[in-house]
Amino acid sequence: MTATRTKPVIVGITGASGAMMARAAVDVLLRRDIPTVALCSNAARLVWQEEMGENFNETLVEWQEHPAFVHYTINDLKAPVASGTYPTAGMVIVPASMNSIASLAGGLSGNLLLRSADVCLKERRPLVLVPRETPLHSIHLKNMLTLSQMGAVIVPPEPAFYLQPKGIADIVDFVVARILVALGLDEAMPDEMQYQGPAE
Ligand SMILES: Cc1cc2nc3c(=O)[nH]c(=O)nc-3n(C[C@H](O)[C@H](O)[C@H](O)COP(=O)(O)O)c2cc1C
Repeated sequence: MTATRTKPVIVGITGASGAMMARAAVDVLLRRDIPTVALCSNAARLVWQEEMGENFNETLVEWQEHPAFVHYTINDLKAPVASGTYPTAGMVIVPASMNSIASLAGGLSGNLLLRSADVCLKERRPLVLVPRETPLHSIHLKNMLTLSQMGAVIVPPEPAFYLQPKGIADIVDFVVARILVALGLDEAMPDEMQYQGPAE
């Protein structure tokens, strides 16, 4: 008999702009006591320092206070998540760089983050990508099309202008809610983030 346990969600953090979305995604998962595995590329560590004003290791120390949190280093290809036999609930890459998206679309899995995402694709598990780049050229678009056709869900971090966000925090909350729905962790967006039709 197989023991029932909550499968972990993998959060891959790459070196695109938008570190605060990764921070918010992990925070929400841990607030819900969902087992969470974080993987962070070397470039993402640079962006983290720049955008969050702290070293990624300092954030790790904070997250590691939660018993449901696990982190593996980017070159730890012996980590459980590198194998399809290890059950997970899926993965989100947030933010997703064009470099990592290109690697994935090309079937390359040279670090643990890419390997884990590749495993999700081959095992037909949820894979959610939050790409951040602008403008996009044809190769970026083709790579995202390839991944979408393979079952990945592409969630660009775009504001829901119709909800009249008051600032970046509202936009980040909206993107994270979208991620949770795309991963199948929530059935629908929270009521206050649903379009209710034109104001009376
Ligand atoms: C401050 C900063 C911001 C960046 N923003 C982006 C971005 O928004 N999108 C992107 O695709 N790459 C961005 N890059 C470039 C990536 O970090 C770079 O392509 C890197 O090789 C990605 O590696 P990774 O996919 O392993 O994380 C940024 C780099 C820096 C230093």
